[in-house]
Amino acid sequence: MSDQQADSSTAGRALGIDIGGTGIKCALVDTTTGKLVTERSRILTPHPSTPDAVAQVVAKFVTDANWSGPVGATFPAVIQHGVARSAANVDGSWIGTDVDACFTAACPQADGVFVLNDADAAGIAEVRFGAAKDVPGVVILLTFGTGIGSALLMDGRLVPNTELGHLELDGHDAEKRAAASVRDENDMSYKEWAKRVERYMQHVERLFTPDLFVVGGGVSKDADKWVPRLSLNTPVKAAELQNDAGIVGAAIAAAERRGE
Ligand code: BGC
Repeated sequence: MSDQQADSSTAGRALGIDIGGTGIKCALVDTTTGKLVTERSRILTPHPSTPDAVAQVVAKFVTDANWSGPVGATFPAVIQHGVARSAANVDGSWIGTDVDACFTAACPQADGVFVLNDADAAGIAEVRFGAAKDVPGVVILLTFGTGIGSALLMDGRLVPNTELGHLELDGHDAEKRAAASVRDENDMSYKEWAKRVERYMQHVERLFTPDLFVVGGGVSKDADKWVPRLSLNTPVKAAELQNDAGIVGAAIAAAERRGE
């Protein structure tokens, strides 16, 4: 395929890959609309989830899609200019790994792989196409899952790697008190768990005085069961892209890096 042909077939599109602790999901995304162009496919996260094992899954998605354009991937850790700087819920061998370089080397047919924090990707997706679209000022997205992820946006621009899930709350790492996994592990009702979430979000509110909170993660599909219970001064909206936020945000970030 000539460069020109490759460009016309990949323009305005990017492959988005969402890497989580249990599954890795992928779809092709129209980055101008935020819509998935293909069905989502999913592969179980390898165990141990070492960089090489995960890079092979990323490479399989790229090959299966026969994709030669940009690829964006989320990762559940601090990612500073492509390098993993933390590993709260992933294999410790990631710390110090240049994830961009590792995935890009595994996918020679793609136009580079760009990696960013999972909550940051969700924040980008929600601010472009979801609950925070056209919201000026300070928006904080919090994702409640195995841990708590955060994205801080100012007038639609991301400040990466905020890691607000690791604020100290009552002497504990906040995500150990208020993540969705804590609700599951302790068989808590939404009413009980909402008290913990409220206490955590009041703390974040005091520190940042945001204009809007967006709450995401798997529990956002049950938002009506717990969001109305939160007593906060800041409006709270449920994330709109739900399961697709990571894929869409990663694809947008990759396309923008490429200048589209
Ligand atoms: C990690 C974050 C991540 C969040 C959600 C936290 O434990 O430190 O980097 O965004 O979990 O996956």
